[in-house]
Amino acid sequence: MILVTGGAGFIGSNFVLDWFEQSGESVVNLDALTYAGNPANLASLQGNGNHALVQGDIGDAALVDSLLKIHQPRAVLNFAAESHVDRSIHAPEDFIQTNVVGTFRLLESVRAYWSGLPEPEKSAFRFLHVSTDEVYGSLSATDAPFTETNRYEPNSPYSASKAASDHLVRAYHHTYGLPVLTTNCSNNYGPLHFPEKLIPLCIHNALTGKALPIYGDGQQVRDWLYVRDHCSAIRRVLEAGRLGEVYNVGGWNEKANLDVVRTLCSVLDEMSPRADGKPYAEQITYVKDRPGHDRRYAIDASKIERELGWKPAETFETGIRKTVRWYLDNTAWVEGVTSGAYKNWTAKQYD
Ligand code: NAD
Ligand code: TYD
Repeated sequence: MILVTGGAGFIGSNFVLDWFEQSGESVVNLDALTYAGNPANLASLQGNGNHALVQGDIGDAALVDSLLKIHQPRAVLNFAAESHVDRSIHAPEDFIQTNVVGTFRLLESVRAYWSGLPEPEKSAFRFLHVSTDEVYGSLSATDAPFTETNRYEPNSPYSASKAASDHLVRAYHHTYGLPVLTTNCSNNYGPLHFPEKLIPLCIHNALTGKALPIYGDGQQVRDWLYVRDHCSAIRRVLEAGRLGEVYNVGGWNEKANLDVVRTLCSVLDEMSPRADGKPYAEQITYVKDRPGHDRRYAIDASKIERELGWKPAETFETGIRKTVRWYLDNTAWVEGVTSGAYKNWTAKQYD
């Protein structure tokens, strides 16, 4: 079996659902169920005896030690993190706590467990750390995309905390021989995405008649990857990645934020036209820029393509249509996550 952390969040839950579509191998899913963790993401697994969701913190050594001892996983996949840049600007401490201290404690528990494994289980064990392209900092319009050897230059409390966790993972390999793998992926989008991030926020705001907030001039560039393509990359790295290596994962889909939102609007115009017949693009509103806003991220995914034969299945155009369709078909999920505390966040960030 495998132990997944953060598997009730956006990418983690997509990964767990994808895992059970591909494999019958059991998953223990450790998730603190913060505002971003949602057991409803895993509702379709109810009654599946091969999946167990355990509410708890990756930094709770006693809990993690006992889960490792009881379940004897062949791999630990670490998705758990505080993940939203804007929240890291308002309140960085949780990011240090989970992303840095939590990852450190998890590594300590995993090291103790792995050290005591007999062969051949010890050699076969893997710790896969899920990270982000944001650790490499910001590119100019003419810079080459990030490769695995780019210098780390994180600019937000979020990316700095992820960079710190990546360094710890690297150090546990070099110092203790822990069999680690790290993936640094670009911006994901798709089903089950909490509507605080650009794409799900704009879908939700468009359909509820609210403004579509564009930070600054909207010309910041991100590389977008459909979440299930990220999941297939992680499965492939787990299966065949070289120990201690880093793999950049991306979709070769660089887009300016304004273009992303305009595309979303035209897909919505077609799939769910406004009652007044006007285009959703009329709801686009320019708002104050994010402090320290990184201008451009771009991923060179040649290494994972060359070494592991991975390629994304979706283009931005196909992935965004699937995403919009999912949000239109899952209004109860959206209502569930946008009541209560969500309103406090949007008031703090946008009002
Ligand atoms: P998310 O915020 O949607 O989910 C994070 C999950 O971790 C939640 O379920 C939350 O409850 C859980 N969690 C938080 N603190 C925890 C703790 N201390 N112990 C246990 N569980 C905890 O994030 P996401 O977008 O699914 O991202 C998952 C991972 O992928 C993160 O490590 C993130 O840095 C990385 N990543 C995200 C993106 C992206 O575009 N979203 C891109 C590249 C990499
Ligand atoms: P986001 O989805 O928060 O991801 P990240 O900051 O990790 O890249 O933001 C994606 C881009 O969209 C980023 O350049 C910030 C911008 N953005 C807006 O313009 N308006 C918004 O309301 C949000 C949430 C993001």
